[in-house]
Amino acid sequence: MQLFTGFSKLSKSQKIDWLVEQHLNNSATARETLTQYWNEDQKLQDLHDGFSENTVTNFYFPFGLAPNFLIDDQLVTIPMAIEESSVVAAASKAAKFWMDRGGFKTQIKGTLKSGQVHLMYHGLGSEMDAFYAFAKAELLQSLEQINASMKKRGGGIQELILVDKTKSLEGYYQLHATFETRDAMGANFINTTLEQLATTLKLKASEFQGFSSDVPEVIMSILSNYVPECVVNVSVSCKIDEIGTVNGVTGAEFVRKFVRAVDIATVEPYRAVTHNKGIMNGIDAVVIATGNDFRAVEAGVHAFASRDGQYRSLTRARIMNDSFIFEADFPLALGTVGGLTSLHPLSKLAMQILGNPTAEKLMKVTAVAGLAQNFAALHSLVTTGIQVGHMKMHLVNMLEQIGATDEEKNVLRKEYSDKTPSFSSLRESLEKIRI
Ligand code: HMG
Repeated sequence: MQLFTGFSKLSKSQKIDWLVEQHLNNSATARETLTQYWNEDQKLQDLHDGFSENTVTNFYFPFGLAPNFLIDDQLVTIPMAIEESSVVAAASKAAKFWMDRGGFKTQIKGTLKSGQVHLMYHGLGSEMDAFYAFAKAELLQSLEQINASMKKRGGGIQELILVDKTKSLEGYYQLHATFETRDAMGANFINTTLEQLATTLKLKASEFQGFSSDVPEVIMSILSNYVPECVVNVSVSCKIDEIGTVNGVTGAEFVRKFVRAVDIATVEPYRAVTHNKGIMNGIDAVVIATGNDFRAVEAGVHAFASRDGQYRSLTRARIMNDSFIFEADFPLALGTVGGLTSLHPLSKLAMQILGNPTAEKLMKVTAVAGLAQNFAALHSLVTTGIQVGHMKMHLVNMLEQIGATDEEKNVLRKEYSDKTPSFSSLRESLEKIRI
């Protein structure tokens, strides 16, 4: 294969020609696989092509529904976009469980986000302080136009401070700005604001007479996806005797093991990562369905999980006065306006399913999906083990993969209704049917 410059300038069909020639052995089947995922509606296809770059086809994700969530005394159906089997079923099962036990309670603890202009200055710290006092009013004033519409909606820049980071890195300072972005995730607003701050800072630095060294150098200006002040709390609780028998285990025993399982994920990073991955099954699915940025959420959530220096469980569980309490704080910077949320027809639909929520309401619903997912996973882990339920859901994919016909699938589904399938056992069963 040869280096190819100008790939981005090719038309979509030229890109496909190149791909099929260079990587796929000129296979007609490969070409067909790509084209069969195109949408027949050319306008819709163009819309999707425009979301990214060098697009040659679409990559579908299943869009499912987890109904029956009682959240702050309101019934909610949660849209979830996820490719992994058993996640939506698990969320739905958790919703059903808590429906009769008071449902999920949520509380927004904060909605602030931040961004930084990262600077280097190698003179005295006191000179940077003096410069900041000299420049601050104009730094803020230069934002007036950018800030205007966000301010009208009750948001905008909330605070601007100079932070001395020279203990971590020689010469390193930041302008740390805090923002309220209301129903927008706010990435563009924050980045535009920070870049304006950087421009004004450079101008003011050229006017300031008090530097003994070269003027401060702007390295970069960018929002932070670490959002420890944009946090939602979600909880469920009930009396232990309301739990009932769970997969053959008494409520008291179930709760005891459940709390232990969360304790283990709190102290043991190997377990915490998997535990939190299960939580993110729920959170990501809602974030994706609603057209939000799941990479930003993932990065922020995992940084939050290690905020005291060790990676830990995001959820907490305890027994108090004969009650079982299970809760979490999740940092979630989400938007319900702007970006893909208003562009992708299915994200718009997801928002409609959720009653066109505010960003705060979406934070709450997403947090519920995360807690529910963790509850369902632990529910299985401390009783039957995960494989029975997970494989029950995955069976449909396995049957597809071994090439079973619809009729054979029905027979095998019945045969495996109460046992865990493996590819070899399924193939053996299929052979027996076919004899
Ligand atoms: P079950 O008890 O066999 O289900 O559970 P059921 O047939 O008795 O149905 C009970 C309810 O579950 C249903 O109520 C649904 O709400 C839901 P209904 O609708 O009948 O009124 N449900 C379904 N919803 C949609 N489609 C289905 C379906 N089946 C049940 N086909 C279940 C089966 C899989 C739900 C259960 O075993 C479970 O929750 N398991 C946990 C699965 C899980 O956590 N999966 C995530 C992937 S594994 C992972 O990546 C994370 C992990 O590593 C994280 C960690 O380690 O912490 C585990």
